[in-house]
Amino acid sequence: MAKSLRSAGIVGLGSYLPSTRITNADLEKMVETTDEWIMKRTGIKERRRASPEEAASDLGTKAALKALENAGVTPAEVDLIIAATITPDSLLPATACIIQDNIKAEKAAAFDLMAACSGFLYALATANNYVATGMYDTVLVVATEVLTRATNWQDRGTCILFGDGAGAAVVKAVEEGKGFLSFDLGAIGAGGDLLKIPAGGSRKPATHETVDKNEHYIQMSGNEVYKFAVKIMGDASLKALEKAGLDRKDVDFLVPHQANTRIIDAALKRLELPPEKVYLNLSNYGNMSGASIPVALDETVKKGLIKTDDVVILVGFGGGLTWGACVMRWVM
Ligand code: UT7
Repeated sequence: MAKSLRSAGIVGLGSYLPSTRITNADLEKMVETTDEWIMKRTGIKERRRASPEEAASDLGTKAALKALENAGVTPAEVDLIIAATITPDSLLPATACIIQDNIKAEKAAAFDLMAACSGFLYALATANNYVATGMYDTVLVVATEVLTRATNWQDRGTCILFGDGAGAAVVKAVEEGKGFLSFDLGAIGAGGDLLKIPAGGSRKPATHETVDKNEHYIQMSGNEVYKFAVKIMGDASLKALEKAGLDRKDVDFLVPHQANTRIIDAALKRLELPPEKVYLNLSNYGNMSGASIPVALDETVKKGLIKTDDVVILVGFGGGLTWGACVMRWVM
């Protein structure tokens, strides 16, 4: 990482999960699938669904308020809000602006960032740069998804995977040499077709025909994305460790994107980490895209699995195709 003026890190975390559960037994009634297939191929038992009146900003607002409280920071102190989401309330205004209004963070600038499941990592890297350069002191990163609204409930290849939730982190300046040590972000735009929502944008605006063809829902070549994920989770983690001047032996804990237990197992193997150094919650929540990592990190910290000064890696991949990894020396 380029020499920073100040070190930055996560000083508060929060998450919110809607209470409605969709179990594998529920899915067995909707598409031709079985609990056994879903468990064996993904490790997912159930996922959460937002209530009809809840949108991404509502989930994000709840997670944001918890993160601010956890950090001991008031909304009035927030300089910038970055919302990472692929399921914004609407295309305009940005979900970050709605959250800004909801929490009354009146002096905060606000924008959305789209990097799919890697969104939280892209947003953390962005927050780091604002704080490191001194432009802002307090950045609120919110990753929030209502993927169940972008899911085709007749497509068994995707509807078994996704769930709704939100996670948030407060980023501030920290003691030098602590907090974020390195990031590795990347994209392979040529792989964009492997994971997409074809309609509803400027290429293919919403029409009766696009709706009839289910083109506003996620379409995925699951097996191709799987192969990319298995390779990139290890590659990106090792690259980020190298940039931080560390080795895989230095890693105390890994919090990966929660997409599939088989993908996470492959990453553990590549990093030579024992299973007790990774946190998994995908059996309860499924894949919440960008929200998966902050929700998992919040739970990891609340369970006391990460201690101050531990070396922690966050790593994820997603549509774009994109990926991100971050190495931190934990400060909370
Ligand atoms: O956050 C990034 C988002 N994307 C991902 O994380 C996705 C990464 N990919 C995956 O996790 C896996 O590719 C899946 C779990 C989606 C699928 O597992 P797979 O081992 O790659 O299966 P596959 O797509 O190669 O399909 C194998 C078979 C096919 O049947 P045939 O053609 O062999 O007869 C599918 O039609 O499994 C069938 N299948 C299912 N069967 C029962 C696909 N989905 C289901 C299902 N239930 N839900």
